[in-house]
Amino acid sequence: MKMDSCLFTLVFGLSMLGGCLARVVTVSPGPLIRVEGQTVSIRCDVTEYSGPSEQDFEWAMSKEANGKKMNIISSFDTRYSNPLLRKRVASGDISVVRLKDNEVELKIAEVKSTDAGFYWCQTPSTDSVISGNYEAKVQLTVILNTLKVSPLTPPPVVPEGSDLTLSCNVTRELSHPTYLSVTWSVKRGATSEEILTFGPQGDVVTGAKYTRRYADGGIRLVPGKNGFFELVISKVTTSDEGTYECNGTEWTYENGGKWIKIVESTKEMGTVSVTPTEKLLGSNTWICVGAKGGVVLVLIIVVIVCCVRSKQKKRMQLKDEEELRLAWTNDQQHHQHNHPSDPRHHRCQQQPAGHTGPRQHRSKQQREQQQQHPRALDPPGAYPEPSPRRLPQAPRPVDKTDDEQPPPLPQPNKKAVKIQRV
Ligand SMILES: *[C@@H]1O[C@H](CO)[C@@H](O)[C@H](O)[C@H]1NC(C)=O
Ligand SMILES: *[C@@H]1O[C@H](CO)[C@@H](O)[C@H](O)[C@H]1NC(C)=O
Repeated sequence: MKMDSCLFTLVFGLSMLGGCLARVVTVSPGPLIRVEGQTVSIRCDVTEYSGPSEQDFEWAMSKEANGKKMNIISSFDTRYSNPLLRKRVASGDISVVRLKDNEVELKIAEVKSTDAGFYWCQTPSTDSVISGNYEAKVQLTVILNTLKVSPLTPPPVVPEGSDLTLSCNVTRELSHPTYLSVTWSVKRGATSEEILTFGPQGDVVTGAKYTRRYADGGIRLVPGKNGFFELVISKVTTSDEGTYECNGTEWTYENGGKWIKIVESTKEMGTVSVTPTEKLLGSNTWICVGAKGGVVLVLIIVVIVCCVRSKQKKRMQLKDEEELRLAWTNDQQHHQHNHPSDPRHHRCQQQPAGHTGPRQHRSKQQREQQQQHPRALDPPGAYPEPSPRRLPQAPRPVDKTDDEQPPPLPQPNKKAVKIQRV
């Protein structure tokens, strides 16, 4: 008995609640600001209704908030439209799109300035009891397209490592509260890569491939006055080549926290190619010049050393000759007097060409003689002085070449003679 009364109360309560359902038709609060020639979409939904789940909708418009309505389009009645609008409905310029059982969208593909006014969304009742709102309205404001995107043409060729400034002027006539954004992108072949977007709220959004570079300061934004924006790409590389574009977009902010793009314009800025920098080329050239210079310097040193050595050699040869002449004279004298006191000189005379052994012995002694009277023939500063370390070594190659040659020794040239005279 107690259980039954409870159940009755619950059923009664639910039936009362059902009976109290009040239909709610909702459109965007607006006002909607749209640009002439652009697409307009106005959504409408219905809740708190009874009857079939799928609801029907009718759209009408009035010039004044409570003025005479003109039927536009219906989701169920093809003959609903005002004759003035039938053409636009037939062509699809004006259409209604069902999004859900309880939601549709009125679409105007290309809005005209004469389309400005109040748009009414109405739902025929499917309720057992008429209750709630069966229609809702929103104001549509149609503004002229005053968006202008005028970029400056970037230099067609930039050296690698330099800065590339991409200037773009994005303006509109401010008759209603609209906002602007500017987007730079680069096209390479068929693909277009977004670099950076500034706005519409003063925020910066970078393209995926440019996020790091922006964070590192390799890309910076210079917002100027009156819609003049500059994007500076630092230290360009050949990967920055491409056709740059500037996109200006005008936005409106609607109640409900939505940013609506109302018009956009994309302009090609120009194609930029990147050449290897003079700096890089310069450093290469410097390396080249340095290397060549080094080689030349080494050659000069080699030539100087050779000159010095050959002069020393000639001096040596002259000395050798002198000595040999002396020795020869001595030998002749010894032979004449039958007195071979000096076997060294004797052997030297009999030695065949190319035989080195005894000659080295002789040369060693000669060296010793030379070292006892070093450079006796040279006045100081007569010609470049070899380093002291080389001095004891200098006669060696003389001996070697000397060894290859049998006496008489090569004729000294005039220069060597001169030196000897000194
Ligand atoms: C930007 O464009 C506007 C409108 O076209 C113009 O008045 C303004 O002088 C331009 N600014 C620059 C810096 O080019
Ligand atoms: C222009 O920029 C807007 C906003 O970033 C973007 O939605 C749109 O796709 C861009 N249009 C073109 C043609 O790049």
